[in-house]
Amino acid sequence: MSATVTRLQDAVARKSHDQQAVAERLSLREVFRAVRSETERRAAPLSPEDQVVQSMADASPTKWHRAHTTWFFEQFLLKEHLDGYPVFDERFGFLFNSYYVAAGPRHARPRRGLLTRPTVAEVASYRAHVDAAVERLIRDADAPTFAKIAPLIEIGLHHEQQHQELLLTDILHAFAQNPTAPAYNANWRPPRVSADSGVVEIPEAIHNIGHAGPGFHFDNEGPAHRELVGPVRIARALVTNAEWLEFMRAGGYTRADLWLSDGWAMVTNEGWEAPGYWRKIDDRWHAMTLRGLQPVDPGAAVCHVSYYEADAYARFAGKALPSEAEWEVAARTGELDDAYGVVWQWTRSSYSPYPGYVAPPGAIGEYNGKFMVNQMVLRGASHATPNGHTRATYRNFFYPPSRWQFTGLRLAEPVA
Ligand SMILES: [Fe+2]
Repeated sequence: MSATVTRLQDAVARKSHDQQAVAERLSLREVFRAVRSETERRAAPLSPEDQVVQSMADASPTKWHRAHTTWFFEQFLLKEHLDGYPVFDERFGFLFNSYYVAAGPRHARPRRGLLTRPTVAEVASYRAHVDAAVERLIRDADAPTFAKIAPLIEIGLHHEQQHQELLLTDILHAFAQNPTAPAYNANWRPPRVSADSGVVEIPEAIHNIGHAGPGFHFDNEGPAHRELVGPVRIARALVTNAEWLEFMRAGGYTRADLWLSDGWAMVTNEGWEAPGYWRKIDDRWHAMTLRGLQPVDPGAAVCHVSYYEADAYARFAGKALPSEAEWEVAARTGELDDAYGVVWQWTRSSYSPYPGYVAPPGAIGEYNGKFMVNQMVLRGASHATPNGHTRATYRNFFYPPSRWQFTGLRLAEPVA
């Protein structure tokens, strides 16, 4: 009798374990489909001609983003883990490898816009081929293989989400070169922002910084460690266009004393007199947006400013940019307005490894670690950041002169 009960209990446990395993695979497949289709949704308003253009070396064509995110799964997942996987086209590895030296030679980044072939339609077939293979692998992998591939699929999806944001920032840069200022989305509006003039007070304390516990994070968000933060006040609100116009009226772009030397060199060499994409038409400032050229909205957050501009503005305001640790501690209080979903916020922290950071072995270790020099950290997320891609510990990074991303700022004030 008791042996029968035990057998029955075992069978029930096995069944529930099997059901759990099936549910895990189905849920991964659903997330995979959702992320892959979001890329296609973002590319859908763009014609084949739009999708080929590369307007500068730092920006990539839409078609390239669609193919490169697909290559990532082919290279790091399917070739390694799906027995008998037929590579879609052996030449694509060269064309769509971005910067992974360990994954082989690659096409020069500034020449991505010269790839009229493969066509947009062929890239769509490439995506379908890889999607079907990934779904097959999710369904059929044995348990030990599934345990290995699930984290690779997860990183591939977060990688694709990063490219979804770049797809928009890069097409905006391309459209900004067009004298007709095309709209990516005729209904786009700048996100509403808080006008709260308050601050979040961070008393001096040792805080845990970086990602700890469950949930996905990139390697550069760890190891979690302790850091002395504060005392500091962090502005609840983002800096707005109205405030930026005051800075401009006060001669912000003409006063060398407000600028770092490299920043002042950019101002003089590039003729900067306003944020990126701003143009004066009939004595009124306009900005190139995803909705085309629009009058600058004073109530919106300032966007497309470089680190140099953010730093100069902070000096003008008699304040500072927050460090990334200050930003993270303030964000965790839940009292920052518009921490996510409007603009990435420059911090005064240079992009460096956290104490004890070691890049993972192999090609995937090139993802973040090799870029940890000469760039500045941005925190938060922008209105172009896909849902599910925001975290208090997320470390974005760009070079100080860059301003084609959706970048803005909030201020900090050290407490004496
Ligand atoms: Fe990439």
